[in-house]
Amino acid sequence: MPQRGNAQAEKQTNMDLTDTGKSLTVQSPGRINIIGEHTDYNDGFVLPAAVDKKTTVQIARNGSPALCRVTAANFGEHFEFSLDHFSPLKAGWQNYVMGVVHELQQLGGRIEGFDCRFEGDVPIGSGMSSSAALECSLAYALNELFTLGFGRDRLIKAGQMAEHRFVGIKCGIMDQFASMMGKKDYAILLDCRSLAYRYFPLELGDHQLLLLNTNVTHALASSGYNTRRAECEEGVALLKRRFRDITHLRDVTPAQLAEMRSQMPETIFRRCTHVVSENERVLAATRALSSGDLPALGQLMYRSHVSLQHDYEVSCPELDFLVERSLHADAVLGSRMMGGGFGGCTINLVEKNKCDEWVDDVSRAYLARFGILLTPYSVSIGDGTGVVL
Ligand code: GLA
Repeated sequence: MPQRGNAQAEKQTNMDLTDTGKSLTVQSPGRINIIGEHTDYNDGFVLPAAVDKKTTVQIARNGSPALCRVTAANFGEHFEFSLDHFSPLKAGWQNYVMGVVHELQQLGGRIEGFDCRFEGDVPIGSGMSSSAALECSLAYALNELFTLGFGRDRLIKAGQMAEHRFVGIKCGIMDQFASMMGKKDYAILLDCRSLAYRYFPLELGDHQLLLLNTNVTHALASSGYNTRRAECEEGVALLKRRFRDITHLRDVTPAQLAEMRSQMPETIFRRCTHVVSENERVLAATRALSSGDLPALGQLMYRSHVSLQHDYEVSCPELDFLVERSLHADAVLGSRMMGGGFGGCTINLVEKNKCDEWVDDVSRAYLARFGILLTPYSVSIGDGTGVVL
């Protein structure tokens, strides 16, 4: 059943649309994050990489001044809206599309009617950011199609703000940045304050990165995310009373946090503890990667999980089970939940030639414990957003 944004779109569906140009195809990937969770909106550090799973958008002008017709091939759904008047729906993929259009318009981009179709293989709800893949592919495609002239930095921001304003998740910048700026075989160390970044070769020798998808998404995924963000802001407000120059948790040292402990609610203290310690772990992880110290990287991943589980409280029993099981596996150097949390994937640093054996073992155990099939993905690091020639 086609869905329409408003009455204006309804009226225009019978217009004689002329194809005024050739179609353009753009791809944008999902991402993994090696370490640095919930640090991005605290102006901190992250270490993501683009993957070889992506969203592909095919787009063309349709000759109308305002009618946009969008097909989501994976859902078998079609949606139409008018550029003259549109607003967010209660929920749904349509909000990502309209959100991106809205943000580009806000930046002064002159967009006209278009037809587009997207499909992808980034698993939804897996913590691999299928949403950023869609936002970035569409933003890039519209920028090309209408020669808007925005650089990748503006498109990244447009994707993020689409999510804030149309989807209702106050996400950080990591996902859109990784999707747009990914580079084959490299991770990206991103400073989410300055947006300065550095590519790190992902040379893992006898090891590989493996994702295990719990195939669960708990209801808290979006509400819990925004609550955590607000709790971090509360922490900053309290810390500011004593340390005036602090604007984000990025600015806080472990010693400063310890000094203020008695003046903070316990929960807020723990949220801050996660962010402050996670930032340090990201930087330590880049040192471990640079020196090829994979056991050290693995330990940092485990510590990240414990912090996300107990201090930030964004894990869930399914994720914890997978991480805990890996502690007893020789094949695994490190494991942690990845992304926003409350479901989705764990990311694991696993010895290549023992990987299949480990996947068999953990899959069997997971099925027995939760009655759910686990989906493993071998990670292959790919390029960021670009036109498909
Ligand atoms: C989601 C958000 C990101 C980031 C992660 C957690 O993926 O979109 O901005 O905050 O969660 O690290």
